[in-house]
Order: sequence, then structure tokens, then C-alpha cells
Amino acid sequence: MKAMVREILIWPDPRLKKKAVPVTKVDDDVRALIRDMFETMYHADGVGLAAPQVGVHLNVIVLDTTPRQPESKPIAMVNPEILSYEGKIVYAEGCLSIPGESEDVERAAQVTVRYLDEQGVEQTIKADGLLAVAVQHETDHLKGIVFVDHVSMLKRELIRKRMKKLKVDRAEESEKPSKRASGASASL
Ligand code: NI
Repeated sequence: MKAMVREILIWPDPRLKKKAVPVTKVDDDVRALIRDMFETMYHADGVGLAAPQVGVHLNVIVLDTTPRQPESKPIAMVNPEILSYEGKIVYAEGCLSIPGESEDVERAAQVTVRYLDEQGVEQTIKADGLLAVAVQHETDHLKGIVFVDHVSMLKRELIRKRMKKLKVDRAEESEKPSKRASGASASL
């Protein structure tokens, strides 16, 4: 079946606060979800996407920190679990569920993550740089946490107001094609 671009939930949304549950078997349904998630992520110019962002509360994330480049390396992680954290990095994070916004967030600079790949085989990798940031950002989504939960309440409330306005604007313009502004930061 052909991969499909799914609708990305916009924060604030109660479905983005709901915790995802582990996948019990990596079957064709999970692989179809993964294909749709990659399609959705690339379509929205993101470098990461978590299943709850498309309304599916399963522990599944997809990542590609170099999309549309020769070295492009799509990674799908089922039931990802961060085993260790090292160092610190501050990165201006964005989120496909919080379009047009970015804020500095401090994360671990390196993480070791264990997950099941699309074939259900256990993998363990050490990630650093943007990939480490993305793994932490996406696994947060699985716990119902978004990056604005890591910034000050003042900033978060300003962003909440802008997102509420954006939702109203989008509802009004729902029949017209949308155009996303591209920023310097990564949308995860
Ligand atoms: Ni995100």
C-alpha cells in the first residue's frame, strides 16, 4: 500500500499529552504506520516525528537528520529506550506540532538508545549532535511531553497564544493550500 501523508496534531491538543504504549509486535500494521510517518515527516520538512503527533499512541518514532541529502539516513525506532545520557547540548528546537516556533532547549549531548527496528530486531546505537537531540525530543513526545514544556512558563504561554491563533487561521483557510515558513532551526 502506498504511504500516506497524515494530519499532524497542533499543540496544544490533549492527544499530545497522552502517553503512548509499547508495541507488542512489529508487524505489517506497524510498518505501514512507519511508512506513513516518514511520508508525513518529509512532506512537512521535519527531521523527526513521533506517532502521537499523528494521533497514534504507540511507541514509534522516525528520524532523518539529513533529509533529501545523499547521506540521508532514515531511522525508525519502535519502543525506543534511552539507556544513558552524557554531556550537555543546547539546541534551538522546533516541532512539527508547534509550527514556526523554536526555542533553546538543553539536552544530553550523547545518548545510548535501544530500540526495535522495522524488522523487530533489537538495535542499540549511540547518538550525538542533532540525532541525540531528536531522539530525546521524540521520546519526550511518547511520554506526552513537548519541547515547550522545557522552556519558561512565560515563553510557553506566548507560544500557546500564537498556536491558538494559528489554529483559528488554519480553520478559516482550510480550503486554501497552506504554505509553511522555513526557519533555520530543525522541526522535530
Ligand atoms: Ni516534536
